[in-house]
Amino acid sequence: MSDEVALGSSSNGRVLEVSDLRVSFPTRHGPFMAVDGVSFDLHPGERLGLIGESGSGKSTIALALMRLIKPPGRIESGTALLEGVDLLASTQDQMRSIRLADIALVTQGAMNSLNPVMRVRDQMVDGLSAHGLRLSRHDASDRVQQLLKSVNLKPEVADLFPHQLSGGMKQRVCIAIAISLQPRVIIADEPTSALDVVVQRRVIQTLRKVQDQIGAAVILIGHDMGLMAQFAQRVAVMRSGRLVEVGDVRDVFARPQHAYTRQLMESLPTLRHRVSVGVAST
Ligand SMILES: Nc1ncnc2c1ncn2[C@@H]1O[C@H](COP(=O)(O)OP(=O)(O)O)[C@@H](O)[C@H]1O
Ligand SMILES: [Mg+2]
Repeated sequence: MSDEVALGSSSNGRVLEVSDLRVSFPTRHGPFMAVDGVSFDLHPGERLGLIGESGSGKSTIALALMRLIKPPGRIESGTALLEGVDLLASTQDQMRSIRLADIALVTQGAMNSLNPVMRVRDQMVDGLSAHGLRLSRHDASDRVQQLLKSVNLKPEVADLFPHQLSGGMKQRVCIAIAISLQPRVIIADEPTSALDVVVQRRVIQTLRKVQDQIGAAVILIGHDMGLMAQFAQRVAVMRSGRLVEVGDVRDVFARPQHAYTRQLMESLPTLRHRVSVGVAST
């Protein structure tokens, strides 16, 4: 990637560097380490897939990076340098300006977090103005149109309320909001799990298009290996709070090194076919 140095302000060409992340939740038997010493990094514009069985700690990583772990859950250790700024050492005040502007999260439930009594336009403008962007009514409207267009939604959608949109359209609005301030990193936590298969694929294609446009790196969390093969360049495999394998998507899918990754692949009989289709079409 030739634009690595130009895009990242950190000196080593990484936009995000996570080291030794540990997150615990208290239980009757003492603290349970949902994330237990996870380290990985991301290059500017890179697309990383994060896979692993349910409960392995994927969402907890996403929430920890956004600093949205709710007490009594606790970040026990680690650093997460976003262009050199440690997210885990930032105050909640600092995080309010970092979230959305520098790192954005889109979840499966994102579409349900849209405000039901606000038109799409106003929700989108809200995100911009919450970050101190003072736009005239005309410029704000232009920006909204431009964002809607980039996620393949018609301009009229700006005037609608969330209940007037399909699930896929709502997730597109959420992606438009996520990219509105051109963050360096987007975390998409099973963003399409609630949608039907055809819509999933289109929404992931849209995510792919917009991340490319703004040059953001993406962590896509999910369990659909077909979608992963279509989207990710590298994959990281979680098991019981730990990363057990990280590598090029083709290598990991074709020759999983870790027994657990092999199990994960073998449990998906159609995978080989879908991987070859997915990779061939990118
Ligand atoms: N708020 C919470 N309170 C207690 N335990 C939690 C909480 N959130 C997650 N966990 C536990 O942490 C582990 C990892 O969960 P999660 O990160 O949601 O997994 P994944 O996203 O991979 O399915 C699970 O065992 C889950 O039960
Ligand atoms: Mg999850």
